Amino acid sequence: MPLSVKHLLGIEDLTVDDINLILNTSQSFKEISARPIKKVPTLRGKSVINLFYEPSTRTRASFEIAAKRLGADAVNFSVATSSVTKGESLIDTGNNLQSMNPDIIVVRHSAAGAPHLLAQYSKYASIVNAGDGMHEHPTQALLDALTILDHKKKIADLKVAIVGDIAHSRVARSNALLLGKMGAEVWVCGPPTLIPVEFEQYGVTVTYHMKEALQGADVVMMLRTQRERQQEVFYPSVKEYFALYGLERKKMKWPKKSAIVMHPGPINRGVEIDPELADGEYSVILEQVTNGVAVRMAVLFLLLGTSEESEQ
Ligand code: CP
Repeated sequence: MPLSVKHLLGIEDLTVDDINLILNTSQSFKEISARPIKKVPTLRGKSVINLFYEPSTRTRASFEIAAKRLGADAVNFSVATSSVTKGESLIDTGNNLQSMNPDIIVVRHSAAGAPHLLAQYSKYASIVNAGDGMHEHPTQALLDALTILDHKKKIADLKVAIVGDIAHSRVARSNALLLGKMGAEVWVCGPPTLIPVEFEQYGVTVTYHMKEALQGADVVMMLRTQRERQQEVFYPSVKEYFALYGLERKKMKWPKKSAIVMHPGPINRGVEIDPELADGEYSVILEQVTNGVAVRMAVLFLLLGTSEESEQ
């Protein structure tokens, strides 16, 4: 069964069948990364360009590793040393890269909708959204779902609390959409200044009180306070923010004992999460990073399909 989309632009476009297909395929790809020789020829002869206009550690490295583990050629396009610095537009850059016939272009951009624009101009390559402004980060939500499944064996009916800077978070948006489609009970929590009113349209419960969000939760997903996107002051001080919305040991009496603590990274230690919790027994943060490789392998594989010359 193929995906219903040619491009992976957002969770919004995916059906529940698409999500299950990606998660099931990711499960089968995990094993490759555990082998001594972590490489198969499945996508030999295919090429993937990573086009990142914003900094990234996890997403960029894992897309590159995912492509290489499947035998594809991966090229990391560095915006800082490209003709973007001479004023070349996104569309011109995209058209020039497409002229070299890549099979997939993975794009991260500070502007919401940038991957969608590239997709409109793409005759051949599939476009993958690796994070567009404050809009979506679909592969992050998929790897988060895979990590939840690893620990909870299901997503439906779980209480998931997403806490922090909701307004600037593409991770929050993609997770709210994915977890909602999969039947979870999603709560979002943060200061009123950092939760946009439109969030209620995603079918989540909004609260400004961390105790309400965490009470009985199966999953606690902490978000980074995105100072680089905050043009105004949204809370009086980091100390006050941490007291009200930071995750620390004493607040772990509210979720279930079996709860897991997640964070997409990068972490602001001591701002939204106490290092003791980030590194402690509830944390699955590094498992999320590991699962990022498997999910991105699955996404590349499913978008490219199995052509005649591809081998398993
Ligand atoms: N979670 C995430 O997107 O991390 P990077 O910005 O390092 O890719």
